[in-house]
Order: sequence, then C-alpha cells, then structure tokens
Amino acid sequence: MENMKLIIDKVYGFVDKKVIENNNFAAQKANETLHKGTDKGSDFLGWLHLPSKTSANFLSEIENIANSLIQQCEVVVCIGIGGSYLGAKAVIDALSNSFDWLSRERKNPVIVYAGQNIGEDYLFELQSLLKNKIFGIICISKSGTTTEPALAFRLLKTQLEQQQGAAAAKDLIVCITDKSHGALRILADKEKYKTFTIEDNIGGRFSVLSPVGLLPIAVAGFDIRKLIEGAKSIETQTDISVPFENNIAAQYAVARNELYRIGKKIEILVNFHPKLHYIAEWWKQLYGESEGKEGKGIFPAAVDFTTDLHSMGQWIQDGERTIFETVITVKNPNHTTIFPTWDENLDGLNFLAGKRVDNINKMAELGTMIAHLDGGVPQLKIELPRLDEYYIGQLLYFFERACGISGYLLGVNPFDQPGVEAYKKNMFALLDKPSFEAQSKEIKSRI
Ligand code: PA5
Repeated sequence: MENMKLIIDKVYGFVDKKVIENNNFAAQKANETLHKGTDKGSDFLGWLHLPSKTSANFLSEIENIANSLIQQCEVVVCIGIGGSYLGAKAVIDALSNSFDWLSRERKNPVIVYAGQNIGEDYLFELQSLLKNKIFGIICISKSGTTTEPALAFRLLKTQLEQQQGAAAAKDLIVCITDKSHGALRILADKEKYKTFTIEDNIGGRFSVLSPVGLLPIAVAGFDIRKLIEGAKSIETQTDISVPFENNIAAQYAVARNELYRIGKKIEILVNFHPKLHYIAEWWKQLYGESEGKEGKGIFPAAVDFTTDLHSMGQWIQDGERTIFETVITVKNPNHTTIFPTWDENLDGLNFLAGKRVDNINKMAELGTMIAHLDGGVPQLKIELPRLDEYYIGQLLYFFERACGISGYLLGVNPFDQPGVEAYKKNMFALLDKPSFEAQSKEIKSRI
C-alpha cells in the first residue's frame, strides 16, 4: 500500500539540513512527551491513539445511526462550530463530487451546515430551504453551551417539530456532546435523542476521527472504516519507535519550527485542488488554536491554486519574505479528462491537445513552486497518492500528530485555547446575559 509522503528538501536552501537533523532529539522528546502525557495539556491526549482504539463495533454503531438518517432524510443539517464542524466539512468536501448537491441521482442526504455563524440571512435562507423537506439534525457541541450552535439548534429543532410533530422529530435528531454535564447532554437525555459522546480528553480541533467527524461523514456516504484505517497507519508510522528520518510528523514539526526561527512567521497551506479548500480551513484551526499563544506561533494561512495565483500570487512571489509554503499535491486524480484538438486552433491551445487536464495542472504546480522558490519562499510538500478516505485519514492524523510535536517544540500548550474566551465574554456582556451584569456596564461604555 502506498503512503502519503512529506518532501522537505526545498527547505534546505533556507535552513541547513544539519540543523533540521540536529533537532532529531528534541522532536523525539516532544513525541515521547505526547505518549507519556508528561507536559502541558496532558489531559487532552485522547486523540493520540484514537484510530487504533476505534473498534469495528463502534464504527458499526455510527454506521447504523447514519443509515437511519440516510433512509429518512433528504437533507441533514450538521450543527457545530470550530472543531465541532470543520473536520466533517473538510472530509466531506474533499471526497464529494464537486457538484453533488445538484445531482438528482444522489443516494445520500445533502449535508448542509448551521451553527458555524450567526448570519440572520444564512439562517433564514436555510430555514426556507428546509420548509416542506424531511430533514435530520446532527447537533455537535462538546460544551453544549456554545452560542452559535445552540442558537441554530433552537431554531431548527423548533422548525423540525413544527413540520414533523415532536414525536417524529426525535428520530431525526442526533446529538454529539459531552458525557454528562453540558446543557446539550441534559437536553438530549431529557428528550431521549440518540447521542454519541465526545470524550473529555479530546479537544474540538482534534475530534475529527471521533463521532464528531465520523457520523456526518458516514451520512454523506463515505467509508469511515477506510478513513480510520488510513489514520491508523500514520499513527503507527509516527510512533515514538519510528526514527526521525522516517517520521514525517516529526520532520514537518521540526522544519516549520526552524523556518519560524529564521523569521518565516506565516505558513501558507497550498492546494491545487479546490476540493481541499476546507482541509486547509480545518488545518488553520488546528495549528492556529494550538500554537498561537503567549505571543508566539506561526500564522496559518491558505490559498487555492491556481485560482488564488490570480489574486495572491503577486504577494507570495514578491511581498515581504516572511512566508513559507506547504503544498498538498495529489498524485493521481480520480477521473480522466483529455484536452481536445481544434482544427482552427483559434485559442492557440493545440499544443495542449491530447494531454490530461491534470498534467496541465501539475505543470502549473511545478512552475509555481519553482517561481516561488526563486522568489525566496521555502517549501514543504505533502504528496497524497489520491483523494480517497484512506489517504484523507492519513493526512488528518499526520497533521494532528505533527501539531502536538510542533506545539511542544515551540514551548506552548498545544491543547488549550484561552484566547477564544475573550470575544465571548464581551458578547455576553453586550447581550445582557445574566451573571455578566458587572462587565456589561463597562463594555457598553466603550462602544
Ligand atoms: O477546538 C475547539 O475546542 C473549538 O473550536 C471548539 O470545537 C468550538 O469552539 C466548539 O465548541 P463546542 O463543541 O463546545 O460547541
């Protein structure tokens, strides 16, 4: 079986190969720290062995609930935000036909999302779409108290009960939340909804391989067994027993930290496949929330090429030299399209006739990478053999493991997110939430 690959030789012109190799010990130590749970955030390491601990029986349970939604629903709304949303969206987008939502032949419900914003128009338009449709709800919130999903859930639960009746609505709602104390758990137990638990030791941004990601992905019709299988293979290949020269997670963590040390403060995740857009969104949260603290951390950015070459290409080629790129390349596309010949050749493109479109895309990719390298942009490359569940599983786990190692190399706790609370406190105070009276007066005086 082929594996995903990491290629780091285009970093060596900026950071000496020896410097990377000399980090061998530090990376090994950080990886061991993850295993032993001996540093900051050790109570949030439930994701580390999640792939190997996920049993076939548990996957069957998820598949059974998914099948019940598939059989009943035309549309399933996934409610969640941040780590309770991005993983599922990333995987579903990466694996779906780009125009699947328009297809009349689809076997699985259309997945739509809510609770990832507070846009009134968005919610109004979603509720209009769902009128007279049989829809299901997967409500995901570990804390059960996050404002955005709680708001969306109240609106959509009300609508579903009005459309289907309260009793029938129960069969169409699944909640994924904490074991016992959150508001959503209490509500779900009272209403007798089907539920899955998010373990206390799995943080949102590391939860894609738990029911948080797996249930929506299964409802969308993808093989969660293969996804876990892929993740499991990288769990083994990035284990502490694997030497640095073979451990791609450790190498990625070291390379990006060394680039950061020489002033490359922004990492741009590049893809040449529009389906990977949300993989980058998921990755941005994973690294942004894990490393951006204590005045430190690489800023994670992302672009879709070749689209964004026509908007951000100038900056990347010529702007401030504080960036490096991590390029995700996909070796084999899933379909074949051959470029046709035109007798008159009025567009001058006959030199491409007979080539696969992917070949043209790959030349764009190579040309861009060489140009950016010439422009002083160090590059890391991640190669996936193709876009399927197995390799997406590999990619997700690779990024998670590398993130844990990288955070420890940077010297932060990669598993907390104290900064996220600041906006919530102000918002609650501005909305006069009970118990925020003291802050309310102060914050209102600053408007
Ligand atoms: O990674 C995280 O912890 C966050 O992004 C959370 O997932 C997000 O804030 C949603 O939280 P919750 O699942 O508690 O609603």
